Formats: sequence, structure tokens, C-alpha cells
Amino acid sequence: MKAIQLLGDALIILDQTKLPLEISSRTVRTYEEVASAIRQMEVRGAPLIGAAAAYGYVLGALAYQGELAEFDSYMQQIQETLVQTRPTAINLFWALRRMEDCLRENMRLEDIAAIQTRLMAEADKIAAEDVQANYAIGEHGNEVIPKNANILTYCNTGNLATVEYGTALGVIRKAFSSGKTIHIFACETRPFLQGARLTAWELMEDQIPVTLIADNMAGFLMQKNKIDLVIVGADRIAANGDVANKIGTYSLAVLAQAHNVPFYVAAPTATIDLKLTGGQEIPIEERSAKEILEVFGVPVASPEVPVYNPAFDVTPAKYISGIITEKGIVTAPYAVNLLKVMVRS
Ligand code: MRU
Repeated sequence: MKAIQLLGDALIILDQTKLPLEISSRTVRTYEEVASAIRQMEVRGAPLIGAAAAYGYVLGALAYQGELAEFDSYMQQIQETLVQTRPTAINLFWALRRMEDCLRENMRLEDIAAIQTRLMAEADKIAAEDVQANYAIGEHGNEVIPKNANILTYCNTGNLATVEYGTALGVIRKAFSSGKTIHIFACETRPFLQGARLTAWELMEDQIPVTLIADNMAGFLMQKNKIDLVIVGADRIAANGDVANKIGTYSLAVLAQAHNVPFYVAAPTATIDLKLTGGQEIPIEERSAKEILEVFGVPVASPEVPVYNPAFDVTPAKYISGIITEKGIVTAPYAVNLLKVMVRS
């Protein structure tokens, strides 16, 4: 099942807020609807947010009825709306910058229909490259997966967080399809429950053995030697190798180090932000108190209690055994090796 799909001038979105209780898609035709779907987490996961925003940009371009002279400023306002949907995942800004570059390069065509065609091709390219990157991440990552392994993962990094296959879940998919005997512990990932609702569901669909645990059980399992390896995704990676990922990732990394469990991050190079020297510069999204006060609309706490809900945390590079990208596995010293991988073709 695809999380997003462009059909003509419409984007079909699988509504991830309803999964796994309800599998329902909706059709969106405007860039505003795409922006809202990203903001409301109907579409989520760093690489998928990037691809969805690129298609949102295309839907905005396709709706244009004005003169060529105003097309550029009209597209700027669309970009502005899409860019403000979520602050942490760099893939959103990366994809929109690519769309903007594509627009600038093709303005010389002086024909709106021709420019729209180029923009559509660029968005398709962004989506196709994500799929390619994920399969390559799977191949590289499989090298660090033992023949028999209990693997702990966090949040959702699969078909639902990417255009297809997944990053950390791509590695897990590859290890499983290559015949390894693996078993996955999926953390439920409070407050939004991406692990319980999405990862456990995806793995079960693929018949990959999975056990769901509450987030606070990870340390106990590591202490009992029940985890051989941790693998997670990333929303932004700074030049020094610090990784922003779903809130709770940092705690897992510290636990993994305390128990000598390898801790891997899987992400495409599009997630690397060399402009940021360290993780302290990564903007951390704060989300609505409702995500903590309610589960599927059912209150689980007093509605008046003050809430703090940061959506991401930063794992310092020193806790990370390796960053698995489509160009290979990057290890310390990250400041040197991330730079090298970014220039490698
Ligand atoms: O808030 P979300 O669900 O968009 O969070 C992003 C994520 O899915 C995770 O942080 C993930 O590990 C990185 S995206 C493959």
C-alpha cells in the first residue's frame, strides 16, 4: 500500500492518523490540502514529507491561471505555505529547494504548460530517488545485521514514512527477505504511537516477526540481553553526526551504549544537513498537547494538566555505531566522513 500517489492532478493520501483501525485514503487537489495533511500528520515521516511537499508544489503550479510574469511570485507563496508545515525534517526543505531550482531553471521556457511538465517530472524524480535510496540503504544495512538477531526499532521508518520500502525498516525488510532469522521489537513510540499503529502493522503485513513493547521496556530487554542491535531512522543529521529523530531515540541510544548494543541510524543523504555544525542547531518541533492528553480522541489524562510535547530529540554522534545511507555506511569521525559521503556520486 502506497502512502501517497499522484493520479493526474490529484494526490491520493493514505490517512495515517486512522491506521491501523481504518485504512482510508483521501484525494487532495490543492497545495493547501497537502500542507494541511502534512501538518495534521496524515502524511508523515521525513522522506515522505519531502516527496508529498514536492507534489503539493506541483498541484499548486497546475492550478495556476494567471500570466507568466506573476507565476514566479505565485509559486513563492506556495513554497512559503508548504515550508511552514513542519520544522525538523530537513527533507521538506531539501525537496522544496529542488522544486524551486527546477522552476528557476525552466522559467526561460516562457510557457507555463511546459514549466508545469518540468515541475511534475522533478517531483516524480524526487519520489523515484527516494525509492532507489531506500533499497540501497537496505542492501548496505543488511551487512551489519547478524544471521540471527533480535532488533529493536523505534517510530515508523517503513512504507508509511517514505515513498516505498523504508529506511530502518528497509534494512529490516532486506535482512528478512535475504533469509536471516530476525525478530523485531517495535517500541510503541508515545505520544503519536507510530510504532504501535504503523510499524507493528507494516511488519505484520509483511509477516516479519514482531513484538510490540511500551517504550519504557527497552532498558529491561537490553539488560536481559534480548536485543542484538538497535536501528532507527532520522529526521535531520548535522555535519558532526548528531541525529534528530523521534522523541525517545536519545534515551534508546544511551541505553544501547550502556549495554554494548550497536546503535545504527538509517537515512538517505537527503536527510544530512551539512549547514548545521551540531545537533543543538536542529529546530525541534513542539506539537499539540492533545497528542499526550488523548489517544484516538479518548482522554487519558486530566484535560487541564499542563503538557510539554517536543516531537524530536537529538542523539549525539558518540552514541551512534554507524549511519547507513544509500551510498554506504558512514562511521566516526562523522565530521569528515559525512562530508565525504555527500560528495561521493
Ligand atoms: O513525526 P513523524 O512521524 O513525521 O516522525 C518522523 C519519523 O517518522 C521518525 O522520526 C523516523 O524515525 C524518521 S523518518 C523515516
